[in-house]
Amino acid sequence: MKVTVVGAGAVGASCAEYIAMKNFASEVVLLDIKEGYAEGKAMDLMQTASLNGFDTKITGVTNDYSQTASSDICVITSGIPRKPGMTREELIGINAGIVKTVSSNLIEHSPETIIVVVSNPMDTMTYLVHKATGLPKHRIIGMGGALDSARFKYRLAEALGAPISDVDGMVIGGHSDTGMVPLTRMATRNGVPVSKFLSEERLNQVKEDTKVGGATLTKLLGTSAWYAPGAAVSALVQSIACDQKKMIPCSTLLNGEYGLSDICIGVPVILGRKGIEQIVEIELTDAEKAHISESAQGVRKTNDLLEF
Ligand code: 2OP
Repeated sequence: MKVTVVGAGAVGASCAEYIAMKNFASEVVLLDIKEGYAEGKAMDLMQTASLNGFDTKITGVTNDYSQTASSDICVITSGIPRKPGMTREELIGINAGIVKTVSSNLIEHSPETIIVVVSNPMDTMTYLVHKATGLPKHRIIGMGGALDSARFKYRLAEALGAPISDVDGMVIGGHSDTGMVPLTRMATRNGVPVSKFLSEERLNQVKEDTKVGGATLTKLLGTSAWYAPGAAVSALVQSIACDQKKMIPCSTLLNGEYGLSDICIGVPVILGRKGIEQIVEIELTDAEKAHISESAQGVRKTNDLLEF
């Protein structure tokens, strides 16, 4: 199993690290345009192998896509991250050009690959990869919902005073401060609806804290987060590589599901060796449907800024 991660910045390096530590890939290629940077990150990570007990070989390359040839899965993290006060949508100008070039370089050397898009604004970048490459839709996956759901579970556990392993929940919709739809109604503590333990007001607070999860960290760190994004990517990649068939909310091209078409937005999907093996349509309340449709309008507004 060969995995390429494009972009050796904080998110890309964290992805490579978590993938390697889970020991399911034989090789991870880390690629960056900055001379020597990916080589340095790869060497540093490889020097943790004996300490952390993994055998995955991590190779760093400077913009040499021939080294990524025959990758089973490619992760695109390249582009600029947001600074405090910026929205993910404001990154579109620079990141669209980068993501377009990167995806076509990757496909040239790995025509059968599955692409995981992380660069922001993620739903729009996932849509762009569809338009620019024409790859079958099950092979293009946007990573947002896995991260947003992890942040949701963190906030739920905090509110419940419970360990995170007791908590389950999912965030669908766009990966933006206003677009996320945390499904509080379906969140549980060991199968018991969280509404049994938390007031509506507290649950609304959890919802709001979840939606600005990335922005809160950007303000604290001065740039966007990397540990949870890296871990979320590694969970997606592992479900594909190991054919785990996990149900994870991901951005995918919809064709009538959830009443939406010609848009990439976060919905629950089954991830296996073929990529997105199924889109799971769950029954939503009228309020949740309204929220998703509002979220889709926001994503479409950003998509409209794309030039093909
Ligand atoms: C985040 O939410 C990077 O979009 C990513 O932290």
